[in-house]
Amino acid sequence: MGKNKLKKFAQNKTFTHVIQPKNEEVLHRDYRLKGKWSEEFGNHNPIVLELACGKGEYSVGMAEIYPDKNFIGMDIKGARIFSGAKEVAEKGLQNVRFIRTKIDFIESFFAENEVSEIWILFADPQMQKPRKRLTSSLFLNRYKTILKPNGLLNLKSDSDELYAFTRNESIPQFNLENEGSSFQKISDTNTLYESGINAFDQTMQDVLNIRTFYEQMWIEQDKKIKFLSYRYNHS
Ligand SMILES: C[S@@+](CC[C@H](N)C(=O)[O-])C[C@H]1O[C@@H](n2cnc3c(N)ncnc32)[C@H](O)[C@@H]1O
Repeated sequence: MGKNKLKKFAQNKTFTHVIQPKNEEVLHRDYRLKGKWSEEFGNHNPIVLELACGKGEYSVGMAEIYPDKNFIGMDIKGARIFSGAKEVAEKGLQNVRFIRTKIDFIESFFAENEVSEIWILFADPQMQKPRKRLTSSLFLNRYKTILKPNGLLNLKSDSDELYAFTRNESIPQFNLENEGSSFQKISDTNTLYESGINAFDQTMQDVLNIRTFYEQMWIEQDKKIKFLSYRYNHS
């Protein structure tokens, strides 16, 4: 492993806003902060998750605009998380945490109805392994337990496959299989920057101004950016 990476891992250990649980703390058991994020942040502000956050541009950017929300980025790669974590330290942001873990353990970290929004930005389309897609039914069923009623699930992607899979297969299938709960589409475009979105609130406008590392790369390659937003209804 490169020296630079080791340095980043060492620095991550010094950041109190980077949480790096051991596998045995989350595998088939609840992590100590599950249901207690309001204590961790010292307030009852809404919790917004950025899944597969990479360098965490969204969490850092939004945390600056919205000090009255708490942002948590999750990713397995420590060197990527380091970039966002360093910025959080430099800016003195109190409303951001990063969790270095597999998103597969998400239910070990969050209690029922604990999360207000989930953002999935430029996740791997997992062309060979549809079950591993972050919008597969496996993951939607995990989100269902942690999302508050009227919580939001948002996907931004360069991938035609992930966009079509989410829009036409996994979400409709979830809605058919789950009586009394459904993801209701509130925004949908496959050409975000050409056609714009139905920006139903200011948050949606703000997020358009934040480009993640991968988004910037895809835009430079002239890829069309897709955006889907759902409100989670459950009785
Ligand atoms: C294509 S990158 C996108 C990063 C960032 N969202 C961006 O737009 O720049 C995908 C990220 O997902 C993370 N990832 C993929 N599957 C994951 C999983 N099951 N658990 C945790 N992280 C995952 C990878 O480590 C990687 O950082």
